[in-house]
Amino acid sequence: MSSELTFRGHESHPEVDVDSPKRQKPWLSVTRSIRYMLGEQRLVFVLVGIAITTLVFLLLPSSSNPSRFDHKYEQIPDVYFQSGSGSTGLAAQRVVYEHRAGFGRIHSGGKVPLGLKRKGLRIVVTGGAGFVGSHLVDRLINRGDSVIVVDNFFTGRKENLMHHFGNPRFELIRHDVVEPILLEVDQIYHLACPASPVHYKFNPVKTIKTNVVGTLNMLGLAKRVGARFLLTSTSEVYGDPLQHPQVETYWGNVNPIGVRSCYDEGKRTAETLAMDYHRGAGVEVRIARIFNTYGPRMCIDDGRVVSNFVAQALRKEPMTVYGDGKQTRSFQYVSDLVEGLMRLMEGEHVGPFNLGNPGEFTMLELAQVVQETIDPNAKIEFRPNTEDDPHKRKPDISKAKELLGWEPSIPLRKGLPLMVSDFRQRIFGDHKDTITTTVSN
Ligand SMILES: NC(=O)c1ccc[n+]([C@@H]2O[C@H](COP(=O)([O-])OP(=O)(O)OC[C@H]3O[C@@H](n4cnc5c(N)ncnc54)[C@H](O)[C@@H]3O)[C@@H](O)[C@H]2O)c1
Repeated sequence: MSSELTFRGHESHPEVDVDSPKRQKPWLSVTRSIRYMLGEQRLVFVLVGIAITTLVFLLLPSSSNPSRFDHKYEQIPDVYFQSGSGSTGLAAQRVVYEHRAGFGRIHSGGKVPLGLKRKGLRIVVTGGAGFVGSHLVDRLINRGDSVIVVDNFFTGRKENLMHHFGNPRFELIRHDVVEPILLEVDQIYHLACPASPVHYKFNPVKTIKTNVVGTLNMLGLAKRVGARFLLTSTSEVYGDPLQHPQVETYWGNVNPIGVRSCYDEGKRTAETLAMDYHRGAGVEVRIARIFNTYGPRMCIDDGRVVSNFVAQALRKEPMTVYGDGKQTRSFQYVSDLVEGLMRLMEGEHVGPFNLGNPGEFTMLELAQVVQETIDPNAKIEFRPNTEDDPHKRKPDISKAKELLGWEPSIPLRKGLPLMVSDFRQRIFGDHKDTITTTVSN
């Protein structure tokens, strides 16, 4: 029994094989690999392989030049952009943008790997399916940037952007800015907000939420990804102004509890948020205070005075003038505004900047220009004025002139026919007068 136990113990601890060969020294395997590499010209093949790969990476970017796509897309929106005269001509300005060295590239995120060409900027345009936003998108795409439009289509339309569908540098996301979103971008143009009284009064709580929570979300995104942020504020922050014309240093005369407050106070809060993110979190912000703007793709029947008059005159309805018609507004053509927004974004100044056309018109004078453009027999109908309607509105644009080198170049009598042509097509499906959209200065 005891011998049996001893035997089992030997089984569980097998003896070490004392006859096994000694382990190889590591340097022996290295020299063997080197000898293998040198044999049969294998090293030459490796070197040739590296050379070919480097060549492919160096040549690849020029063959995948985005201009391949640009050709198709540059044709469409240019119809709305008229070259201004002299040094403010948009064509000239566009060239300046495209050739400016180092233009915004500091934001494009880190070193570019050897052999890869730098691409355009990645830009988010919230509200990009709307009137102003869609024209801005056209310019950015034409410049060679990649654009992501974020829009909930409350007042925006896919039709405004359809000419970019299929372009690899264009993306459209249905999203409400009151919800957070995470995107890797270099710049954020924050336009999302209903702009006409008819639309922003439709759901005032939603309007203020868009202005406050929406702006907070986009500023949060800018902070997280280190993007530059531009807010499209409004001349409405001056309320019913007691100072004329309005300078950026004027703090305004706004009713905080009126029917327009969801918009006016909403934009004032958005400006506050932008400045606090700038001072407190170092976000690079830009603030534009936009004055009345008109042009193709405006919503028809949105209650804004130019679109109202044009649609009514085209339909042979009387043009409705609220109050005595002596209240004044200034009207800026959309391409002038887009130019100003882009200059502001690329410049070094935070703002706020007034962006508007200082040419001042009473409502009756505007009605007269519409009559001249569409129908000399168009009638005018007077109605009681709406609540909190400002009496005077005219921008002082000295600051934008001096610091952005910007001023509008399209007068009302040149811009209005372009808008009329677009409205005529949308109201009557009439495509005959497309040629009239290219009036030169
Ligand atoms: N057009 C003007 O005369 C004017 C004047 C002053 C300021 N602005 C400002 O410029 C910006 C653009 O104005 P516009 O005239 O193009 O107006 P618009 O109504 O044509 O465009 C606004 C866009 O924002 C989108 N939007 C609205 N709420 C949204 C939300 N919660 N989430 C995502 N998208 C949303 C709409 O669908 C629309 O596409 C606005 O911020 C407006 O306040 C315009």
